[in-house]
Amino acid sequence: MTDALVWITGASSGIGAALATTVPIPDAVVVDISRSGGTPGAEHLPADLADPSSWSAVETHLLARMSDFSGRRAVFVHNAATLDPIGVAGEVDSLAYRRNALLNAAAPQVLGHAFLRAVAESGFAGAADLVMLTSGAASSAYAGWSGYCAGKAAVDQWVRCVGLEQRERSPSVRVVAVAPGVVATPMQEHIRTADAAAFPAVERFRALHADGELRDPDAVARALWALLDGDVESGSVVALDVP
Ligand SMILES: NC(=O)c1ccc[n+]([C@@H]2O[C@H](COP(=O)([O-])OP(=O)(O)OC[C@H]3O[C@@H](n4cnc5c(N)ncnc54)[C@H](OP(=O)(O)O)[C@@H]3O)[C@@H](O)[C@H]2O)c1
Repeated sequence: MTDALVWITGASSGIGAALATTVPIPDAVVVDISRSGGTPGAEHLPADLADPSSWSAVETHLLARMSDFSGRRAVFVHNAATLDPIGVAGEVDSLAYRRNALLNAAAPQVLGHAFLRAVAESGFAGAADLVMLTSGAASSAYAGWSGYCAGKAAVDQWVRCVGLEQRERSPSVRVVAVAPGVVATPMQEHIRTADAAAFPAVERFRALHADGELRDPDAVARALWALLDGDVESGSVVALDVP
């Protein structure tokens, strides 16, 4: 019987994959919820999280796995996100814009609720952490990223509200949002290829890369796990310090 269950959405790439391969809890069972999977050491639960029909499948999975779990720790990291379509609202592809809103704004709330419900209904007696990956884009406006910026702002405010609720009701459940800084992942590679007409701030991100300013995903992942080992308060929105 495992001591810890760790779910990470989008653990097939970038920060999510680094989190999956650096989980500091011995014998943890790690589940990657993404479309492609493939990260060593992680079980794969295939899901397109921009498709609302996947959300009930994930909730059913969480309820089933938590129902007979008697370990010490349960962690759900919601990390999956997309920048696409990069470009101007009213001009970009409608289906892609809808998928952006569903993945970045709606899925974090719906899946966060599902995890909290699975923890509550299972009667789990251990410590539970719900972690949302957020971004400076939650509070800085970027032309070309409206869906992404709005989604991250929604994540931050959801975490503040739900953190308040859990502080009152379930002190062993912690809900936090973590902004990782600018990290060397496929998402950043994708940003650098953007057309300046679609994303006017592109040169800033190209310059950060050229100047070697991007953080290493493994260092970010270790810093995030270390943050959770500390006493960060439920409801916090944290800019991650990476040593
Ligand atoms: N990199 C940065 O500089 C930076 C800065 C601030 C915040 N962040 C945040 O950190 C998190 C991770 O970013 P990253 O840079 O590691 O991104 P990434 O390399 O592009 O990885 C994104 C992950 O999300 C998953 N994903 C995307 N669309 C999905 C969908 N429809 N259904 C399920 N999974 C989906 C991808 O998996 P599949 O393609 O296999 O589905 C992939 O594993 C994001 O929340 C991002 O907003 C990153």
